[in-house]
Amino acid sequence: PRYFALIPAAGVGARMAASGPKQYLKIGGKPMLRHAIDAFLFSELIAHTYVVVSADDPFIDSVVPSHGVTVLRCGGATRMESVQNGLAALAGTLRENDWVLVHDAARPGLDEALIEKLITSTGEHPVGGLLALPVVDTVKRSIAGEVGTVSREGMWLAQTPQMFRYRLLRDALAAATDSARDPRQVTDDASAVEALGLSPKLVEGHPRNMKVTMPGDVRLAEMYLATAQP
Ligand code: C5P
Repeated sequence: PRYFALIPAAGVGARMAASGPKQYLKIGGKPMLRHAIDAFLFSELIAHTYVVVSADDPFIDSVVPSHGVTVLRCGGATRMESVQNGLAALAGTLRENDWVLVHDAARPGLDEALIEKLITSTGEHPVGGLLALPVVDTVKRSIAGEVGTVSREGMWLAQTPQMFRYRLLRDALAAATDSARDPRQVTDDASAVEALGLSPKLVEGHPRNMKVTMPGDVRLAEMYLATAQP
């Protein structure tokens, strides 16, 4: 089987309160997006890496390496649309049964070991798989002032990469669009697949693969990078 990486990186990073898009914030001196790209470049299992950015992104050319990565300037208004546009641009390049690993640019802590763990553990699973972490905290739900506790049994926090076969992922995202779900509600790829009644495999990830969202997260991500295994 062939494995490809697709990195949606067309977000504006509204929650980060930074001056530019957060995928270009530096973590340990290197733009966050480049960390994600490098993890796939260093993995021998990945055939090629694609990055989806906005049509008018002024920073991307100075961040991508000259080999092994193709930039697709077709970002959409939501993450889901960016992934969909990227997959559409790869029609004719990818085969229906190729695996696509979709990974957020905002997760700079990914490394080859996690990529390989995901691929090996998912194997030839009929649906696909994603990295995730078991929930360790007690989970509260608060709606209009009414607070309750949700059992954490069986609860996981989804990470990326999330890997699915090209055809299934494309069809699942198309179905999510047809069902008139708000694309902002489809915050990961697996949820679109689950909406078809399919269950992907959950593969235990690692806290270092955290998503950089809030301002303080940059220093935490740098701490994890500094403790990288050789
Ligand atoms: O904002 P959030 O952290 O949920 O974004 C997750 C990923 O989706 C980021 O890598 C971001 O750049 C990407 N994204 C995108 N197109 C959008 C919004 C987000 O590619 N319109």
